[in-house]
Amino acid sequence: MPKDQDDPMTGPAHVAIIMDGNGRWAQQRGRPRLFGHQAGAKRVREIVAACPAHGVKYLTIFAFSTENWKRTQAEVSGLMLLFRRYIEREAKALLENGVRVRFIGDRNRLDEKLVRLMDDLELLTAKNDLVHLTVALNYGGRDEVTRAAKRLALEVEQGRLSHKDIDAETLSGFLDTHVLPDPDLVIRTSGEARISNFLLWQSAYSEYEFVDTLWPDFSADEFGKVLANYGARERRFGGVIA
Ligand code: IPE
Ligand code: IPE
Ligand code: MG
Repeated sequence: MPKDQDDPMTGPAHVAIIMDGNGRWAQQRGRPRLFGHQAGAKRVREIVAACPAHGVKYLTIFAFSTENWKRTQAEVSGLMLLFRRYIEREAKALLENGVRVRFIGDRNRLDEKLVRLMDDLELLTAKNDLVHLTVALNYGGRDEVTRAAKRLALEVEQGRLSHKDIDAETLSGFLDTHVLPDPDLVIRTSGEARISNFLLWQSAYSEYEFVDTLWPDFSADEFGKVLANYGARERRFGGVIA
């Protein structure tokens, strides 16, 4: 049976979330968009904390896309500052709660100070194993595959690899997510039913759940309900169920 990652008794082992709707949440309250981002950031702790009880070993969250640079300078720099503050504020609790943090995405365009905090947090939590939290920051699926293809091409060019040996597994090994299993379930909040360049390669066989709730309102309770709903699905991976 091709079911390899998730345990039907405990639900999806790897859940990925497109945390969308912060701006609308703020707008509904007549507040600036950054107010929504702050409220959204506060939700993350609660969702991470809920993972072990549901058997979710891997949680991957989309924090900033390669397309989000198109937003106003004020919003982008506000978000970057929020990420820095968030890491500084949460590092201790993440360490103590058994969370191993990783970042995926292109770090080259990120502020040096932020990158240092990201590196430090990865190192600090490297021995944890209860929940593997991956934060996608300046992440885009196409960008990730393009960067992987470039590095793969270099390996071939320099004679370390033959084009004949390239298969899907080889390419997976060059992606930012190379140490992670593929997501079993991708959740998007805020009512939008699109992928927005998130985990394009990795979500080939993921289940999708779109919920109307705006991210700052997405509670651990609702998270639990979405996970329970996943349990009722039948994943076939292209085959047939006997
Ligand atoms: C998601 O919320 C957070 C980021 C993309 C950084 P949005 O900021 O996209 O919120 P909406 O979609 O405008 O409501
Ligand atoms: C996706 O949300 C990116 C993140 C949640 C970080 P967007 O709000 O950027 O996506 P679009 O623009 O609605 O597709
Ligand atoms: Mg959005």
